[in-house]
Amino acid sequence: MNKQAVVDKILANHHTIPKHEQGVWFAPANIALCKYWGKRNTELNLPYTSSLSVSLGDFGAKTTIMQQAGTNDTVWVNGELSNVASVFSKKVTEFLNLFRFGQNNHSFLVQTHSTVPIGAGLASSAAGFAALVGALNALYGWELSLTELSILARLGSGSASRSFWKGFVEWEAGVSEEGMDSIGIPLSTVWPELRIGLMIFNRQEKPISSRVAMENTVKTSPFYAVWPQKQVHDLAIIKEAILKQDFTTLGETVESNALSMHALMLSAMPPILYSEPATVTAMNHIWQRRQAGLPVYFTQDAGPNLKLLFLAKDQDNILKYFPGIEIIAPFAENENKEKP
Ligand code: PMV
Repeated sequence: MNKQAVVDKILANHHTIPKHEQGVWFAPANIALCKYWGKRNTELNLPYTSSLSVSLGDFGAKTTIMQQAGTNDTVWVNGELSNVASVFSKKVTEFLNLFRFGQNNHSFLVQTHSTVPIGAGLASSAAGFAALVGALNALYGWELSLTELSILARLGSGSASRSFWKGFVEWEAGVSEEGMDSIGIPLSTVWPELRIGLMIFNRQEKPISSRVAMENTVKTSPFYAVWPQKQVHDLAIIKEAILKQDFTTLGETVESNALSMHALMLSAMPPILYSEPATVTAMNHIWQRRQAGLPVYFTQDAGPNLKLLFLAKDQDNILKYFPGIEIIAPFAENENKEKP
C-alpha cells in the first residue's frame, strides 16, 4: 500500500471541495522520551518499535491553509515567503500532493507560524505536519477523529503522529501492513511538576535528515538488532515511572534511551554524529551537576541540541547552572511557557 491509498481510504466519502474559506490548526511539538528510530515500512513511516513523547504545550506550529488559483503552492513560514525550490516548500508541496483529489485547477496557500526552529532536531516536523493535516481537516470540514489525523500526519513525518494531544502520548507501532493501527494514543496521567528545558546550541538545519539517518542506521549498525528489545524494556519502565511519578527512574531511562539511539548511529557506516562540541560539554556539565545532587537529565534528538528534564522545585537551581535555557511546563493549563 502506498501513501495515497491510505489517504484515499481514510477520506472515502469525505468532501473533496473545501467547506470553509480556510482551515486553521495548532499542533504542539513533542519530545520523545522513548525514541522512534527505524522504520519497518519507509513509505508509510511505520516504525519497528513503539515510542512515547511529551507534548510541549503552546510551543509548536499554527498553520492556516486555503485554496488559491494557479498551480504552484505558496508557503509562508513565520511571515516569510518560502522559496519554491527550498527543501521546506518541496516537503509541504509533496505532502499536499496527497490531497489534490485529481483537481489541477488550484493550489494551496499555506501560512505557518512555528515557535520551533525548523530542522534542528527540535520536533519541528512533528508539529508542522500535524498542524498541516489538522488545517486541511478544518478547511474541508472532514471532522476526522484525532486518531485518523494521527495516521495522516504520520505519512508526512513519523513523530507527527504523536502531536495531536497534550501531555504524554504513546505511538503504538502497530502490526498491520497498511498502518491503520500505528497511531498516537494519549496517556491519561498528568505530571504538573515536570519541566523541559531547551538547551539550544545550533538552530541551523541539520546536515543529515532523520529519514536518511534512520535508514542508514537500520541498514548498517551491527547493534540495530538489539534496539527493539531495549525499546520494549525502556517503554515499560518509562510508562511505569510516569504512573508512579518516579522522576529518578524516568530521567535515567530517558537519558539512556537517547544515548543508546545515538550510539546506534555512531556504529552506522558511515557514522552519524549529531552532537557538536557544545553538546558534549553540556552532557558533562549535566552529569557533574547530577553527581553534586541536582536531579537533572537530558534527551537528544536528530540534532545537537539537548532537552533537559527536571522538576519545578529545582527550577531556580537549574537556571543558576544552565542560564538562558527556555523552560516549558508541558502540563500548565494556560501559561505553558515559563520564561526565565
Ligand atoms: O519523525 P521524524 O522523521 O522527524 O523522526 C523523529 C526522530 C526522533 O526525533 C529522533 C525520535 C522521535 O521519536 O521523535
